[in-house]
Amino acid sequence: MTNTNSALHGEVFYPAAEVAQGARVPDWEALAQRAAADLEGFWAAEARELEWYAPWEQVLDESQKPFFKWFTGAKVNIVHNCLDRYQAGATRNKTALLWEGEKGDVREFSYATLHREVCRFANVLKGLGVAKGDRVTIYMGRVPEIIVAMLACAKLGAIHSVVYGGFSVDSLAGRIADSESRVAITCDGACLNGKIVELKKIMDEALTRCPLVEKLIVVKRTGADVPVVAGRDVWYHEAMSAPAISDECATEVMDAEDPLFILYTSGTTGKPKAIVHTHGGYMVGIYTTLKYVFDLQPEDRFWCAADPGWITGHSYIVYSPLLNGTTNFMYEGAPAYPQPDRWWSLIEKYRLSIYYTAPTAIRGLMRFGEDWPAKHDLSSLRLLGTVGEPINPEAWKWYHRVIGHERCPIMDTWWQTETGMFMITPTPALPLKPGSGTRPFFGQQAEIVDDEGKVVPDGDEGNLVLLRPWPAMLRTVYKDPERYVRQYWGRFPGKYLTGDSAKRDVDGYYWIIGRVDDVIKVSGYRLGTAEIESALVSHPAVAEAAAIGLPHEIKGIGIHAFVILRQGFTASPGLSAELIEHVGAHMGKIARPETVTIVDKLPKTRSGKIMRRVLKARAQGLPEGDLSTLED
Ligand code: PRX
Repeated sequence: MTNTNSALHGEVFYPAAEVAQGARVPDWEALAQRAAADLEGFWAAEARELEWYAPWEQVLDESQKPFFKWFTGAKVNIVHNCLDRYQAGATRNKTALLWEGEKGDVREFSYATLHREVCRFANVLKGLGVAKGDRVTIYMGRVPEIIVAMLACAKLGAIHSVVYGGFSVDSLAGRIADSESRVAITCDGACLNGKIVELKKIMDEALTRCPLVEKLIVVKRTGADVPVVAGRDVWYHEAMSAPAISDECATEVMDAEDPLFILYTSGTTGKPKAIVHTHGGYMVGIYTTLKYVFDLQPEDRFWCAADPGWITGHSYIVYSPLLNGTTNFMYEGAPAYPQPDRWWSLIEKYRLSIYYTAPTAIRGLMRFGEDWPAKHDLSSLRLLGTVGEPINPEAWKWYHRVIGHERCPIMDTWWQTETGMFMITPTPALPLKPGSGTRPFFGQQAEIVDDEGKVVPDGDEGNLVLLRPWPAMLRTVYKDPERYVRQYWGRFPGKYLTGDSAKRDVDGYYWIIGRVDDVIKVSGYRLGTAEIESALVSHPAVAEAAAIGLPHEIKGIGIHAFVILRQGFTASPGLSAELIEHVGAHMGKIARPETVTIVDKLPKTRSGKIMRRVLKARAQGLPEGDLSTLED
């Protein structure tokens, strides 16, 4: 790639001619124009590359917007397109999943063996009474069985609800209870950083609060001695090897608009809410975006180093690589264990060609210096990607130079749990600017508006909104359609509110600044201030709490909490440290605040709402802005 400053403004990296010409979309502008002129035609053409049991009557039904519907009338199941349709052809013997455990153990599944495993597990679930529409909670480490479990649910038309394995008891229990799952799936533990995360123990504790759960399926991963609850717990390996379990399982015929999964995410206020995604539109959206953005070619080996428990993993580890017939790589462990070159050694060992990760991981690995990646042959790489939080230009350039050897374009993909698929992203033929996700994906349009909804001039910061519907869009908030309308469509009617602030430059490139609501992105993980605050007030010493995010060198944003103590408790460094641990124990390590400061008062509005904006400004020594609503 060349770094010149010709036609576009600022620092621009133009793709090498052979990259642009060889890409699946050699002419970005032409396809963008075509999709803009005929949105339904663009998506229908993509949808026709996949198999449907019965065709759609309408591509996009806007009659009940913002409850948009896609491919209405069509019959489909995403698993048919991920697995079933390959069984008669050559792809059957292609590697679907290559997996390495943190201990170095390796497993490989072809499209045929993965299909067989999914059929068998679907039969196990069926035997436990799981049927279309039932919710199943999945709380596992990064082992192949998490993919099998998700696909098996989808095959039966059951709705999976995956809870990230880094969450702890409170977060897990709340999500299981809200989903009303009767069956849950976990592991005896997860291997991470040379230690065991006691998933089964956390699950057992959570289930004491979730009486609806009748069956817990347990995958043996660590071999740790875990208690088994008679009548409730079922070992995965025992159930799978039962003589009655068949290798065949019919795939449930679903309506395109039937839910595929729910996924909890932190929102503006209160408890995490579950986002609903569907079989039809979601499938088409993630199939198309991965194909064009990561320019998939038959020989590619794709590695998305996220966790299946987040939307990135759902869309681009579990489903889209299979929809595209790609060879997918998954690694169980942490990036720098036992040494800071573990990830680079995997790229070399498996000759991985596409590598997609988060800025936090890049910044974390950058810290160890260039010698670690230099020890490895990274010449198999041809494309890089980033997601989850803004990438600072220094990290972008390090990634580009040290990992991509100035040869691999970086796809900075902006999207959300709600969008299901990439929304603002380059494709390999588009010139790149470090730190910008470039332009909206084909068929999409974005705007930056002020708080009154007026479009701001280029270069000014404002609210990022999306203007056109897209097939992988969330359909609703689980059990709360009113919240869906209010939160995403209520502020600027007809426009989808992202919750992010951003700028657009004169070239039409978008630059994400960060969240404008009560969401904190810590190392790319999405957490809500409300959840952190309620974990803090569950400690007997805490009367009131406020959490804010402040810049952090590696994590992007770090959590800082301010608490008022109950009478009878006195401030001490010991108590602050205890409160940090308390949040970790209740929510999971990722939610641990950097600091907990004990204060006498919190800035509030006259109606009693904590003004986090004021806390944030004060902590950074910045102007505090309009204080007219402050209580005193
Ligand atoms: O603030 C944006 C940030 O992550 C938010 C969405 O978080 P989540 O639903 O957890 O999904 C993350 C993975 C898709 C967004 O509102 N974000 C995501 N990607 C980027 C980003 N910020 C800047 N650049 C990105 N590429």
